[in-house]
Amino acid sequence: MTAKTQPLREYKMNGMPFRRLGPSGLRVPLFSLGGWLTIGETVVGDPVKEIVKTAFEHGINMIDTAEVYAEGKSEIEIGRVIKELGYRRSDLIITTKVYWGVRHGSPNDTGLSRKHIIEGTKECLERLQMDYIDVIFAHRPDNTVPMEEVVRAFNYVIEQGWAFYWATSEWSAREIEEAHHVASKFGLIGPIAEQCEHNMFRRERPEKEYDPIYQKYGTGTTVWSALAGGLLTGKYNDGIPEGSRLATHSFMKNTVKSLQQKEGQEKIRKVRELSKLAKDELNTTATALALAWIAKNPNTSTVILGASKPQQVIDNLKALEVLPKLTPDIMEKIEKILGNKPKEVHPRSRPPLDKLAKL
Ligand SMILES: NC(=O)c1ccc[n+]([C@@H]2O[C@H](COP(=O)([O-])OP(=O)(O)OC[C@H]3O[C@@H](n4cnc5c(N)ncnc54)[C@H](OP(=O)(O)O)[C@@H]3O)[C@@H](O)[C@H]2O)c1
Repeated sequence: MTAKTQPLREYKMNGMPFRRLGPSGLRVPLFSLGGWLTIGETVVGDPVKEIVKTAFEHGINMIDTAEVYAEGKSEIEIGRVIKELGYRRSDLIITTKVYWGVRHGSPNDTGLSRKHIIEGTKECLERLQMDYIDVIFAHRPDNTVPMEEVVRAFNYVIEQGWAFYWATSEWSAREIEEAHHVASKFGLIGPIAEQCEHNMFRRERPEKEYDPIYQKYGTGTTVWSALAGGLLTGKYNDGIPEGSRLATHSFMKNTVKSLQQKEGQEKIRKVRELSKLAKDELNTTATALALAWIAKNPNTSTVILGASKPQQVIDNLKALEVLPKLTPDIMEKIEKILGNKPKEVHPRSRPPLDKLAKL
């Protein structure tokens, strides 16, 4: 996969911690890079290369994309820069997602039918110019397709060597449970991870609904929008800066509107308090604090960073310095500011056997 004239660039971890992706043997960097709204959309050409190169030089060797991102252009750009940069394929972890499709002519262009899973995956590989994907995600559940068909189709993709693992994104705990049930009934491979939104303002599903799934199947999360699209950086505290995500993407107009309303203003108040806590007690930024807080969660396998500039990658990786400083006292102060901790799931009948286990 390396251009003939290009020597291979060696990967070095450079202090990046790795975790297992859920119950699998795959080791993923605690921070990875994603391509939604940026790569192939607002960022094209050489600037993509600069972002990917900066990430790689800081130990990020995992890139997440999807067939639908920039209607396939995200995968095309990622495939192109990886070739141009001369990375060894085995040094990288590439994840992509099928469901939304890139065309909308035929009803089979989207969804999780066997047809779209297989054709969609093959098209992803073509755009990425790769022989295989490390993890293929079902970008959403599709309740119009029998679960057995979905699980068998992803197993076929794995058997063909087009992907090593499969995973889900924004599936309910019940749907993930059903996939595992079908997989174990037929001796098939179940999903290893869930790509979910998880940030200081979005907690119920990853911290409560999935609790039984973590316990039962060891599912890991590849977290998206850990900065709530940039809100947790504090950049929207005093309005919408030019060139920012909320200024650039017209479909964000509801988010922009909500920031002027009570709920949005309350979030901004909390971001201000978090910034103060970060500065006064940890000598850091709200950005690094928010990312470290997600990384600290034991169910997080990787936090996917979104970045429109190389400097954002560097700034965001300051979270690695903050992570060991998140003492119980700091965590408690964060909870006090957020005031949104999901209530613990209590067993309905019998009490837990070992109350000390969670300490
Ligand atoms: N599975 C799914 O359904 C799903 C959904 C969404 C995303 N994802 C994945 O998750 C990845 C991350 O999601 P996300 O992009 O929403 O993550 P995010 O971290 O919440 O937002 C990233 C955006 O915030 C801004 N930003 C980041 N770091 C900053 C910094 N240090 N200072 C100021 N602004 C900063 C940048 O936008 P601007 O500079 O443009 O303002 C950047 O593009 C995506 O790329 C994608 O791979 C998956």
